[in-house]
This record gives sequence, structure tokens and C-alpha cells, in this order.
Amino acid sequence: MNAKYLFVAAIALLPLSGIAQAAGDPKVKSMMAHSDCFTCHSVDHQVIGPAYKDVAKRYHGTKASPAIIATLAGKIIKGGNGNWNKETGGAPMTAHPKMSKAEAEDMAKWILAQ
Ligand code: HEC
Repeated sequence: MNAKYLFVAAIALLPLSGIAQAAGDPKVKSMMAHSDCFTCHSVDHQVIGPAYKDVAKRYHGTKASPAIIATLAGKIIKGGNGNWNKETGGAPMTAHPKMSKAEAEDMAKWILAQ
């Protein structure tokens, strides 16, 4: 198989890879860096919010259901507290009302793949 066919095959598979695709997506990480996510979160240790690795572990990582992804995206947009009180001492997650559902779902998928 020559390189051109490999490239076409790779593009054709992209929509199937879901969470795994968002995981390595530098666009999603850059969107998060331009927002305020990393002020309160780090991938591997607790800051104000829980470590993204711990969030991924709790919600079954890349095996998370669409319902979980939608719930996490809702929390990113609306903010809230109560799920991580033991880790955070009750600190709230701030709302991001200008963020679209699609952007928030991409971020949720990126986090789940950590
Ligand atoms: C002001 C600090 C702060 C900022 C900014 C922040 N978070 Fe959070 N985040 C938290 C805290 C605190 C929690 C734990 C909330 C709880 O106990 O339910 C949390 C929880 C979460 C969770 C887990 C939700 C759950 O219910 O288990 C996700 C996912 C998340 N944040 C993603 C993000 C993303 C993406 C951004 C950027 C758009 C962001 N956070 C910005 C503080 C923050």
C-alpha cells in the first residue's frame, strides 16, 4: 500500500475514534489553555479542582458513556460543586456560560482520555 492510500485510510477512520481522537487533539488542549481550566486543574495532581487523571478514573476514562460526557460538559458550562468535596474541601467549579456544548464535550473527552 502506498503512502497516499494509508493517508486516506487514516482520515476515514478519524470519526470512529471519538474520545481517543480528542485525547491527543492539540486544538482541544489549546482551547483549555486559553480558557481558565489550568488555573484550577492539572493533569496529574490536585490544584483547586481534581486532577484530570482522577476525573478520568472516576468516570471510566475512554469507556465513558455519552451520558457521562454530556453531564461533564454540562458541569463545564454551568459550573457546580459537590462531586469532589473530599478532594477540594467543597470548592466550586466556575461556570463557562459562553462555551458551546460541542467545545465543552471536546474538553470532557480530552479529560477522560488522560
Ligand atoms: C475556579 C477554579 C476552576 C476552574 C477555573 C475550572 N475548574 Fe473544573 N473544577 C473545579 C472544582 C473545584 C471542581 C470540583 C467540583 C465538585 O466538587 O463537584 C471541578 C471539577 C471539574 C470536572 C469534574 C466534574 C464532576 O462533576 O465530576 C471537570 C470535568 C472540570 N472541572 C473541567 C474543567 C474545565 C474543562 C475547565 C475550563 C473550561 C475548568 N474545569 C475550570 C475548579 C475549577
